[in-house]
Amino acid sequence: MHTEIYYFSGTGNSLFIAKELQKRFPDSSLIPIVSLLNEKVVQTKGKAVGFIFPVHALTIPIAVKNFIKKANLASSEYLFAIATREGTIFRGFHKIDQLLRNKNKQLDAHFIINMYGNDSRHKGFKAPSEADILSLEQAAIEKIEFIQNIVKNQMTCREKDSSDAIGFSRHPIVNYLLEKMVLSGMTVSEYIGGVNYFYADLNCSGCGVCEKVCLSKKIKMNDTKPLWQKKVFCYMCFACLNFCPKQSVQIKDIPGVKSYTKVNGRYPHPYASLKDNLEQKGF
Ligand SMILES: Cc1cc2nc3c(=O)[nH]c(=O)nc-3n(C[C@H](O)[C@H](O)[C@H](O)COP(=O)(O)O)c2cc1C
Ligand code: SF4
Ligand code: SF4
Repeated sequence: MHTEIYYFSGTGNSLFIAKELQKRFPDSSLIPIVSLLNEKVVQTKGKAVGFIFPVHALTIPIAVKNFIKKANLASSEYLFAIATREGTIFRGFHKIDQLLRNKNKQLDAHFIINMYGNDSRHKGFKAPSEADILSLEQAAIEKIEFIQNIVKNQMTCREKDSSDAIGFSRHPIVNYLLEKMVLSGMTVSEYIGGVNYFYADLNCSGCGVCEKVCLSKKIKMNDTKPLWQKKVFCYMCFACLNFCPKQSVQIKDIPGVKSYTKVNGRYPHPYASLKDNLEQKGF
């Protein structure tokens, strides 16, 4: 059974999971979602089709939502999704099911894998040590082996997420309302170019790495400085923030959300290189 694995990944966590899964399915292909976002319709060909992506602000990334909307999944017999996350409760698979309902489909299986967080805006964010990364990686590999068995046998597995891996638990109703707020905020942001809160500080060397890793092509080098173009949509992948070799990319405070990027470290993106992000864009 041919399996297609569609992935979206800002800093490599979801890419790592996608590659590990692909190794376990000899007849499979790994396809970057970003490379297909300009297509009107995406005709999938796998009998089994999987979507692998990070959790963004409690829900699925907009790029993934837009991709699923345009995917023609008529030839698929089995659908699964894997979300990688830092650790807040995630119930966004219902959003995917809503999108699939128009196509008379639904997810047969979905899974969550805890990885290291790449959002260094928050107070107390610490760049992980190699040992921290390794310990999460070992648990992730065990989960992939479990997922491999389910997908290979086309089993149903739709566990409800009740775990909160980082002690960020909120009342389920608060979580539900927050998710609704985030989703409406995201819909508005699609019309205004997404978030426009990045800038490069004085340490910027003008190397251009941020422009190259930017999955949405929002960043353009202007002489020797990066410019986040206001009207170009941002996928919020945080590749610019985490790949900058000078840790020069910063996020401004926005009402209600103070940013600590100036004092925090960065996620060292151990599973992705510049080349990987270029490949996602189809280069
Ligand atoms: C803008 C943004 C928002 C995020 N929101 C959440 C969240 O709500 N819950 C969570 O557990 N992790 C959250 N994360 C962390 C990522 O989901 C996690 O680090 C993921 O594994 C990154 O995958 P990637 O390297 O494939 O992009 C967020 C990351 C970013 C950049
Ligand atoms: S990656 Fe960092 S140092 Fe290089 S141009 Fe961008 S902001 Fe400047
Ligand atoms: S501007 Fe930064 S966060 Fe937005 S898409 Fe580009 S790299 Fe990702």
